[in-house]
Amino acid sequence: MTYDFNKIIDRRNTRSLKWEKEDMLPLWVADMDFQAPPEVIEALMKRAEHGIFGYPGSCSSSFQSIKSWMERRFSWQVEEDWINFCPGTIPALSMLVRTFTHPGDRIILQAPNYPPFLNITRDNGCHAVYNQLQFKQGKYHMDFADLEQKIKEPRVKLLILCSPHNPVGRVWEKEELARLAEICLDNNVLVVSDELHADLVYKGCQHIPLPLVSDGIAQNTIVLSGPTKTFNLAGLQTSFSIIPNPQIRSRFKTALEVSGYSRPNVFGLEAVHSAYDYGEPWLESLIIYIRDNLDFLTEYLNNKIPILKVIQPEGTYLAWIDCRELKMETQELEKFFLSAGVFLNQGYAFGPGGAGFIRLNLACPRSTLEEALQRIERAIISRLNL
Ligand SMILES: Cc1ncc(COP(=O)(O)O)c(C=O)c1O
Repeated sequence: MTYDFNKIIDRRNTRSLKWEKEDMLPLWVADMDFQAPPEVIEALMKRAEHGIFGYPGSCSSSFQSIKSWMERRFSWQVEEDWINFCPGTIPALSMLVRTFTHPGDRIILQAPNYPPFLNITRDNGCHAVYNQLQFKQGKYHMDFADLEQKIKEPRVKLLILCSPHNPVGRVWEKEELARLAEICLDNNVLVVSDELHADLVYKGCQHIPLPLVSDGIAQNTIVLSGPTKTFNLAGLQTSFSIIPNPQIRSRFKTALEVSGYSRPNVFGLEAVHSAYDYGEPWLESLIIYIRDNLDFLTEYLNNKIPILKVIQPEGTYLAWIDCRELKMETQELEKFFLSAGVFLNQGYAFGPGGAGFIRLNLACPRSTLEEALQRIERAIISRLNL
């Protein structure tokens, strides 16, 4: 079957957050301008046609789908009772922070980082400790010397790992994960591994779930995952945690119950099941399309806007672009892209190391990407009087 990712689908007036801004071409928030796989749409339509949407019962068949996905894609053998549904990765992360820290504790973030990591840290009364990523030889790296120092600060309880990393696009290698795991274990710091982008990895790279790195780290990690980025299902608010350690799992389960959350959404369950069981061919085609979009972007910038430099991602559908040669202050840079008519995520929002960068969402038809780049090119030409 072939999938038409070039097709433009009008998303205005569909209550889409991404497309709410009038007159802007939106290449910001991480959702895709593509329809979900046909098998998912069909399963949801069938469920809708049934017409009765009462409380869902056993999640067993969806757990089976998750288990076989993890086994097929990552050679990870997950037990059914390690999995808990959550109404989203962000709500799960917030509950985890409340469960495993006290106000005043410290949480390590590897900046530049997905902005809600900081919001959740602060909103729950904790302090962020930044273990900033280092950019060397065209690639971001973890700074282990810095981590070893900062993890010893008083009241460091948690490290939030983003794997693959949003926004810089790194797919962490086994050696990097093993070093991070060792440091966290030595210092008794729990790891939350946000692996929501795990399926969106380009050819030549392989995502490794953190618990596969060692038995020790498996017992010290909470993985957050789900099909929502992979299959464009974020509006269904269905994600899950995978926790091999029974004590940690039981504390988190209690936290879910205390919050009053007990049952996933019926459509979310259908989506998990149909996406993981039947969506793989669609996903393989999607990754190729996004990779081609990345090549298109890179070539366009190299040939026509060389002042902007894309940091080559290994995964995610997000491109992290260095705009520092434009020599604009953060607010000026933000206004500049708005005046160009393209809505992007501004790098400063991603914390230390983010200022002067933009994050561009590649998950759109090529013609949308081209239009956005033409708008940016025109704005740069007029700004620099080229
Ligand atoms: C790394 C990461 N974690 C979590 C989320 C949000 O997840 P959810 O919609 O499940 O709350 C995103 C969305 O972009 C993300 O990039």
